[in-house]
Amino acid sequence: MWKLFRSEQVLGLSLCALCVLVLPFAAEAQNQSQPTTDPAEVRALNSIFEDWGITARQDQWNTTGDPCSGAALDSDSTDIDNVAYNPFIKCDCSFSNGSTCHITRLKVYALNVVGVIPDELWTLTFLTNLRLGQNYLTGPLSASIGNLTRMQWLDIGINALSGELPKEIGLLTDLRSFALGTNNFSGPLPSELGNCSMLQQLDHQR
Ligand SMILES: *[C@@H]1O[C@H](CO)[C@@H](O)[C@H](O)[C@H]1NC(C)=O
Ligand SMILES: *[C@@H]1O[C@H](CO)[C@@H](O)[C@H](O)[C@H]1NC(C)=O
Ligand SMILES: *[C@@H]1O[C@H](CO)[C@@H](O)[C@H](O)[C@H]1NC(C)=O
Ligand SMILES: *[C@@H]1O[C@H](CO)[C@@H](O)[C@H](O)[C@H]1NC(C)=O
Ligand SMILES: *[C@@H]1O[C@H](CO)[C@@H](O)[C@H](O)[C@H]1NC(C)=O
Ligand SMILES: *[C@@H]1O[C@H](CO)[C@@H](O)[C@H](O)[C@H]1NC(C)=O
Repeated sequence: MWKLFRSEQVLGLSLCALCVLVLPFAAEAQNQSQPTTDPAEVRALNSIFEDWGITARQDQWNTTGDPCSGAALDSDSTDIDNVAYNPFIKCDCSFSNGSTCHITRLKVYALNVVGVIPDELWTLTFLTNLRLGQNYLTGPLSASIGNLTRMQWLDIGINALSGELPKEIGLLTDLRSFALGTNNFSGPLPSELGNCSMLQQLDHQR
């Protein structure tokens, strides 16, 4: 009898401790497990994909309508270079204490995309890796590329881009690799490219 009373009391105490401890942690965990993408980036990405006539494969990412979901989350081991995932993005969801995601990598590789690079692309300022190689992109490369100052790997090679390369490329001081070969650019490489002191690979074959 005494033993029973004692274990009930212990059980009651530990349940009470659970109420106090678990509930706030559960709420926090829920907030952290369901971060959402910066709404401006969602609008920009959807607009870019609409212009280009492409969509995310719904069985791979963007299953909820929020692009930073599924394999696009930085915690997923699927790399941006995984050929089965194209188009593809990767996101960093560690912002605002794990509640906000920013798009850090974007791949639209060899998808027969025809058209210009929409201005919205240059609002994705958290991009470190942009792969637009082997499409039919036309028009100039906007000076607004200078806003993507976190860029490290940039591939716009094998397209039909034209005009002079903007000197604002020199603002991408973290750039390590830049592929721009096989396009229709005119003029010399801008001297400001020399400001990209991290640059190790430059593919600019005409
Ligand atoms: C979870 O998010 C909601 C709304 O975004 C907020 O009201 C709530 O305080 C958050 N909870 C925790 C534990 O951060
Ligand atoms: C993500 O899913 C929503 C809802 O299905 C869709 O409207 C949107 O175009 C998708 N975004 C991308 C980038 O595919
Ligand atoms: C992030 O969490 C810390 C500690 O929990 C808190 O002090 C801070 O206000 C939070 N910041 C944001 C943007 O929610
Ligand atoms: C960067 O973006 C701001 C607005 O966000 C704009 O005023 C500015 O002209 C842009 N810079 C470049 C180099 O495009
Ligand atoms: C390349 O640019 C030149 C003018 O600079 C133009 O005459 C030519 O048609 C362009 N070629 C392609 C394939 O876009
Ligand atoms: C960038 O490059 C230009 C031209 O080479 C040079 O005049 C300028 O000083 C450089 N700016 C920085 C911040 O290094």
